[in-house]
Amino acid sequence: MVALHIAFWGGLFALAAQAQSNSTFFNPVLPGWHSDPSCIRVDDTFYCVTSTFIAFPGLPVYASKDLKNWRQISRVWNRESQLPGVSWNTTLQQDGMWAPTIRYHDNEFWVICEYILNSATLEDLGDGSVGVLFRAADPFSDEAWSDPLIFHPNKIDPDIFWDDDGKAYVATQGIVLQELDLVTGELSQPAIPLWNGTGGVWPEGPHLYKKDGYYYLMIAEGGTAQNHAVTIARSKSITGPYESNVANPILTNRGTDAYFTRVGHGDIFDDENGNWWIIVHASRSGVAYDNMPMGRESVMAPARWDEGEWPVMDSVKGEMEVWPLPEETRDIPGDGYFNGDADAYDWDAASKMPKHFVYWRVPRYENFQFTDSGLQIVPSRANMTGAYTGDIALTGQRGISFVSRRQTETIFNFSVDVSLDATAVGQEAGVTAFLAQENHVDIGLAYLQPCNEEAGLFIRFRAHGRLSPPQAMFRLPADWVEAESVRLHIQARDQESFVLGASLGDGELIELGTAPAELISHLDSARSGTFIGVLVGIYATCNGAGEGIDCPEGGVATFQRWRYEPIAQFIDYERSIPV
Ligand SMILES: *[C@@H]1O[C@H](CO)[C@@H](O)[C@H](O)[C@H]1NC(C)=O
Ligand SMILES: *[C@@H]1O[C@H](CO)[C@@H](O)[C@H](O)[C@H]1NC(C)=O
Ligand SMILES: *[C@@H]1O[C@H](CO)[C@@H](O)[C@H](O)[C@H]1NC(C)=O
Ligand SMILES: *[C@@H]1O[C@H](CO)[C@@H](O)[C@H](O)[C@H]1NC(C)=O
Ligand SMILES: *[C@@H]1O[C@H](CO)[C@@H](O)[C@H](O)[C@H]1NC(C)=O
Repeated sequence: MVALHIAFWGGLFALAAQAQSNSTFFNPVLPGWHSDPSCIRVDDTFYCVTSTFIAFPGLPVYASKDLKNWRQISRVWNRESQLPGVSWNTTLQQDGMWAPTIRYHDNEFWVICEYILNSATLEDLGDGSVGVLFRAADPFSDEAWSDPLIFHPNKIDPDIFWDDDGKAYVATQGIVLQELDLVTGELSQPAIPLWNGTGGVWPEGPHLYKKDGYYYLMIAEGGTAQNHAVTIARSKSITGPYESNVANPILTNRGTDAYFTRVGHGDIFDDENGNWWIIVHASRSGVAYDNMPMGRESVMAPARWDEGEWPVMDSVKGEMEVWPLPEETRDIPGDGYFNGDADAYDWDAASKMPKHFVYWRVPRYENFQFTDSGLQIVPSRANMTGAYTGDIALTGQRGISFVSRRQTETIFNFSVDVSLDATAVGQEAGVTAFLAQENHVDIGLAYLQPCNEEAGLFIRFRAHGRLSPPQAMFRLPADWVEAESVRLHIQARDQESFVLGASLGDGELIELGTAPAELISHLDSARSGTFIGVLVGIYATCNGAGEGIDCPEGGVATFQRWRYEPIAQFIDYERSIPV
C-alpha cells in the first residue's frame, strides 16, 4: 500500500515536472544601452530602471510579467523642473544620472540615484554630485514621479534599504552606510564602513537585502571593464561586521573568453514561484573588447537562494536554459514601447514624441513640432559634435536639435525621409548613429558651397571620432532636388560596421560609406571607461552659424516615415538569432 502510494505520487510529480519543463531565454533581456539595472517584483509584475547619464528624459522604468517582454512605462526624470538648470549645466558626456536603485516601500515606488555634474574627470566625484530620491505611487505615469529629495553623499551608487524598524539606509560606493532622513535629506555622520569587497578595484553598486535573519550586501567590483564581478557578504547586524562569501565572486565572466564581458552591477529578486533571478549588465564585445556599440546591456541569470544559504548563480551567456519562466504575456498597461520592437512612424500634427525617444540633455521643446507633413525641427547652432570655445550654445548646453532611440539589435535597418528648407550655406539635416558628441557617424542633407562651385544641396557622410573617420559627399542629382524628400539610411549588416546611404523613396540605395562600429564603441577620452551606448536618430543644425542661442532664421528640416527595423541579434561570436 505504501509502495503504491509512492508510485502514484511519484507519477503525478513526474507529470507536474514535465508540464513545468525548463524554459529558454536569450540575453540580453534588455538589449541596447541599459546599464546598471536595478529591478524588483511587486505582486506579478517586475520593474527595472537603468542609467541614462546625460540622455533625457532619464531613468526609464520598464515593466514585465514574463521577464521577456519589457514595456517602457515611464521615465523617472522627465521634467526640467525636477532639477532646474542642472541638465544645461552638465558639461561632460558621461556625467548625469548614474546607477539608480528602484524599491517598493509603503505603497510607493522609490528611485534613488546620483547626478554627476561638473566633475573634471571621471575619478573626480567630489563636490559636483547630487543625491536624488524620487517617489511615485503610480509608476506607469511620468507625472506621478515627484521632484527629488536632494541629499549629499560623498560616494556614488546609492542604494536605499528600509529596515524592519522603518529606518531608511543608504549604502554607497566603498562600501559605506548612512541613515537617510526622508524629510530633510540629511545623512547620518560619520558614514559606517561596511565592507571593502574581496580586493577588486571600485567596490560599488551596493544593494542590501534582508533574508532569513541576515543582511546580505551584494556589490559590483573590479571596475566596469573585463574584470567586473558580483560579490556578496552578510551580517546579522546591518552595521556589520560583514562576512565575505568564500564562493565569491558569485557571478562574473572575467578570465574567460565569453562573448558577454563586463558582467556585473545588478540586482536580485524572486518570482511568484519562488525562483530567484539576477539582472546585471554586460557588453557583447568578446575578448577583443573593441567593438560594442550598444555599450552595457541588461542580462539575466537564474539564481538559487535556499533558506539560510548564499545565492548561487548560473554564468551569463547568450542562450540560457533555466527553470520555468512565468507564462509569456504582453499584458502590461500603458502605450509605451516594448524594448526591442520595431518603430514605424508616419507623423502628423496629432503625433506625440514616442516614450522611448531621448534627447541629449534637456531639449528646447519649442524646436520640435509635429505637423501634417512630419516632425519639423528647427536647427541648433550646435551640430552633433559642437565646439568647446566657451560658447554654451555650441557645446550643446542649450539643447541640441537631435532626438533618437537606442540601437537595440546588432543587425538593423534605420531610415527616415528628410527634407531641408535650405536658404544658407552650412544648413544641414540628417540621421546619425551617436555614442557621444565626441563619437558619432552622420549622413545628412547639407547646403554647401565647395570652392569655385555653385552652392547647392549635397549628401554628406561624415564621422567624428578616433580611427581617422571616413568622409564623403555628392551633389544631389537634379531629380532628387525636385523630390520632396530624400530617404537617409543607417544599416548594420554585420557586427563590425555601419553602412550609411541615401535613396529616393523606395528606390535604389546609394551607399556613401561604411564606418567601423568601433568608432562609436568608446569615447576618445576614456577608452576603458565607456559607460554609454549608441543611439540612432535625427538632427538639424546650422553648423555654428550666427551667434547667441539661435541659428539665423531658416534651415528648418522636416522628418517623415521613421523606420527602425530589428533584424538579428548576435548572442555569441558566430551565432545570431533573428528577431
Ligand atoms: C547653471 O549654473 C549657474 C551657476 O551655478 C546658474 O546661475 C544657472 O542658473 C544654472 N542654470 C543654467 C540653465 O544655466
Ligand atoms: C577596508 O580597508 C581599510 C584599509 O585597509 C581598513 O582600514 C578598513 O578597516 C577596511 N574596512 C572594512 C569594513 O573592512
Ligand atoms: C533547469 O534549470 C535550472 C536553473 O537553471 C537548472 O539548475 C537545472 O539543471 C535545469 N534542468 C534541466 C533538466 O535542464
Ligand atoms: C534592410 O536593408 C537591406 C539593404 O537595403 C535590405 O536588403 C533588407 O531587405 C532590409 N531588411 C529589412 C528587414 O527591411
Ligand atoms: C560643427 O560645428 C562646429 C562648431 O560650430 C564647427 O566648427 C564645425 O565645422 C561643424 N562641422 C561641420 C562638419 O560643419
